[in-house]
Amino acid sequence: MILSALVEAPIFAPSLLSADFSDMRSALAKIEDAEADWVHFDVMDGRFVPNLTFGPKMAADIRPLTRRPLDVHLMTVEPERLAPAFASAGADYITFHLEATVHAHRLVQSIRAMGARPGIAIVPSTPAASLSELLPFVDLVLVMTVDPGFGGQALIPTCLEKCASLAASRAERGLGFLISVDGGINLDTIPGVARARADVLVMGSAFFGASEPSAALREARSSYMSARP
Ligand code: DX5
Ligand code: ZN
Repeated sequence: MILSALVEAPIFAPSLLSADFSDMRSALAKIEDAEADWVHFDVMDGRFVPNLTFGPKMAADIRPLTRRPLDVHLMTVEPERLAPAFASAGADYITFHLEATVHAHRLVQSIRAMGARPGIAIVPSTPAASLSELLPFVDLVLVMTVDPGFGGQALIPTCLEKCASLAASRAERGLGFLISVDGGINLDTIPGVARARADVLVMGSAFFGASEPSAALREARSSYMSARP
């Protein structure tokens, strides 16, 4: 499915992980006010990663509060068990980790059959080449630029080389998946992200930790645009 033609990069996806969990309405209002593009929703199970966040009920409860695409990132073991509940909750993208399941191709197909867009994620130690067989089937590839589990970590620069190589394979093979980066995305790292041709920028602490998230996002967008090749 060719998507990048339909969606204009950069897509900024503030991550609710860095928001105040007791006040999701305000967090979503900040995303709306800043005219960010998507809402990134990190699901952690305390097993795939050492932290816990929220489940499908939270997704269903916030779904009516925003029209922005809900970008669910499953950092869970056995993602096939949770994907249906997130599809029913109204997730637009459901991204799971290659490292978390053997039958990734089957899960990609079943997420699409549930009416959501499938994405595949890799942790920093997984090479981009291990995605080769899946690339024609996914709508999004999420390249983790930190070891998943917590917000506020520093981006691992070598991960950006994976984005560049995925962008080259995409062009070579005539595919249309989006390339998303997640972890340590801020004003210092955005120029490198733009040069590596990532399309979707997940921002947790750099958005919700900013004194003025709208201004932070404006700056982030212009930094991306001026560094883009
Ligand atoms: C980390 C999550 C990220 C997190 C990024 O495991 O997947 O989405 O919110 O946070 P920052 O932008 O603070 O690195
Ligand atoms: Zn995430």
